[in-house]
Amino acid sequence: TDHLLGIKYLKKEDINLIFETADHFKEVINRPIKKVPSLRDITIANLFFENSTRTKLSFELAEKRLSADIINFSAGQSSVKKGETLIDTVNNILSMKVDIVVMRHPNVGAGVFLSKHVNARIINAGDGAHEHPTQALLDSYSIREKLGSVKGKKIVIIGDILHSRVALSNIFALQLQGAKVKICGPTTLIPKFITSLGVEVETNLKKALEWCDVANVLRVQHERMDIKYFPSIREYTQLFGIDKALLDSLGKKIVIMHPGPINRGVEITSDVADSDQSIILNQVENGVAIRMAVIYLLAQQIKK
Ligand code: CP
Repeated sequence: TDHLLGIKYLKKEDINLIFETADHFKEVINRPIKKVPSLRDITIANLFFENSTRTKLSFELAEKRLSADIINFSAGQSSVKKGETLIDTVNNILSMKVDIVVMRHPNVGAGVFLSKHVNARIINAGDGAHEHPTQALLDSYSIREKLGSVKGKKIVIIGDILHSRVALSNIFALQLQGAKVKICGPTTLIPKFITSLGVEVETNLKKALEWCDVANVLRVQHERMDIKYFPSIREYTQLFGIDKALLDSLGKKIVIMHPGPINRGVEITSDVADSDQSIILNQVENGVAIRMAVIYLLAQQIKK
């Protein structure tokens, strides 16, 4: 494929190849010399039209570990503030001879739109409430690392599904790999179309946790929230917050994941997020190897 716009455009074999390549890069970045010269001839622009900590830094580090030249752009400090359009912005950047664009944007479909209008490989680093493909890849990779495989595992995605690009990309990725997926959250935060994707909805948190091997806990997205959708934070925490007492009551050790940033004490308490059942920081660590793999594989297409 020419771009990474969403998991829905990938096949299982693509994911396998990305994981095998990430295995190699994970070994590389644990060496004393963490850098390889593979992409010395490639230039990458990181365009962030929305805030990010993990994704932005992880892409930047992945690019540096591959020896690519990089430029970073944050919309807030740019001429977007003077009214410049997305296509003008990107074409001006591309005229500086850029090969790959990594873009986060608040609008659904921004990556697809860009891929049709500019001459560069596009990697979607999150488009509105649509897809966040590298997050889903690093999530599945982390499950594979922890449990040996994704196939046949029971994963529950908990929380604000309606506003979540992480949920959608995870559903696509997990199903491609043969996992069983359930969704759990307040009905006001679960979109109606979700069951058409072949996932079950469980509104009882304890039942969902008793069923699963892995709980992927999503952030309550205050910034995308409209008051009409939302139980109060207090109600949300009472019904869907995960604390240590609940975790210990399950009679088995499930794996806890969270894409970050965490609202500590809202969707998850600190003693759960920081427990030995949590792989939250392993997810972040794996993000670098996964992004190295994605960039490396796209760059090989350019070189052909
Ligand atoms: N997981 C994730 O996308 O985090 P950031 O918004 O900090 O990049």
